[in-house]
Amino acid sequence: MTLRTRFPDIPWTTRQVWQSPTVPWDLCDHERQAQLRVAWNAGDLRYKLHPGQREIYNHVFKSHKQVSSSMERVYGMDISRQWGKDFLMSAIGVGVALRRRRSTRIPYAAPTKDMLKEIIVPTMMDLFADCPPELLPQEISKGTFTRSADTLTWPWGARIVLVGVDLHPDRLRGPATYAFLFTEAAFTPNLVDLMDGVIMPQLLTEPEGFGIMASTPPVTPAHPWTTRYLPEMQGRGMYAKRVITDNPRLTEEQRRLWIDVHEHLFDRYFGRIDAGDNDAEVLQDDLQPLRQRLARIAPDATAGEVGKDAAGDGDDAEAGDAQSGIDAENAAYQHWVCRGRVKRQAGFTPR
Ligand SMILES: Nc1ncnc2c1ncn2[C@@H]1O[C@H](COP(=O)(O)OP(=O)(O)OP(=O)(O)O)[C@@H](O)[C@H]1O
Ligand SMILES: [Mg+2]
Repeated sequence: MTLRTRFPDIPWTTRQVWQSPTVPWDLCDHERQAQLRVAWNAGDLRYKLHPGQREIYNHVFKSHKQVSSSMERVYGMDISRQWGKDFLMSAIGVGVALRRRRSTRIPYAAPTKDMLKEIIVPTMMDLFADCPPELLPQEISKGTFTRSADTLTWPWGARIVLVGVDLHPDRLRGPATYAFLFTEAAFTPNLVDLMDGVIMPQLLTEPEGFGIMASTPPVTPAHPWTTRYLPEMQGRGMYAKRVITDNPRLTEEQRRLWIDVHEHLFDRYFGRIDAGDNDAEVLQDDLQPLRQRLARIAPDATAGEVGKDAAGDGDDAEAGDAQSGIDAENAAYQHWVCRGRVKRQAGFTPR
């Protein structure tokens, strides 16, 4: 039985669809808190996803039916920067941890330990902003996660284990490994060794297990991500490609900026990691001007854009109209979030 049939879809009210920005749990009214409890208890976090992410979420689980063994159940996301790959993978991983109320290990790998801190930890924190307190992983309840960037644990034995494969590839391995997530796989020099030698053999013993690999294109096109994994995943129909302009969370001005500035800056950033230059301070200095430019963009425009995009989403046309209203209501709140958050998170999209 697949996860989807074991945990049937929960009914979505219009207020449960993607809301930008996320209203933190403490600021939600009782009605919304009750809805959030239903969604989080069911481990179905699709309400958090933007329309493009929701499309891929659905495709990931649908594609699982096309293959018969867990060894083939590896999905590839060939997606440009800041589209929301890690948010989507986190929502899938956390959803699995919540749905399987038993011992379940989900390694979440990144090329370097620094990248865990920079890209996965803040994204996870965003994801959990509206989680009911009783379902938070222990490390988030205790406030240790942002420092340790290590593991997310639930009392029933589900664990998401963050692995920087430069320093601790051994952490990819462990009992009850059910699913794996691999971010920026194209920037891992020994990807084939890790996949063939460590990750895939664990799926052999988990017939329902699966994996997701995501990456922006590598600096070196000869990387096995491009020459082996993408073609294989494409061949199995377990593949999605998106470019930065597909991101509904960006205003027009931001789209131009991302293309003009962000791609180049981040290419340098990732290129240097690829070349073994991990000097975090220098990288931080490089990112500073970008943060400042993005922080200056007027956030209000996002609400209307987001509403329009959501309304254009086939499945959720009705929800989209409601979404515009919700976003308009949230404009003041958005200002507040943008000022603090956008600066903190490398200028990443105003909410
Ligand atoms: N559906 C969403 N709702 C709210 N915030 C989101 C959503 N999707 C992404 N974000 C936020 O947008 C930012 C970028 O998302 P994420 O890190 O997932 O993108 P990415 O494609 O992995 O980017 P990168 O290429 O830089 O690694 C993060 O701050 C994340 O928390
Ligand atoms: Mg990412």
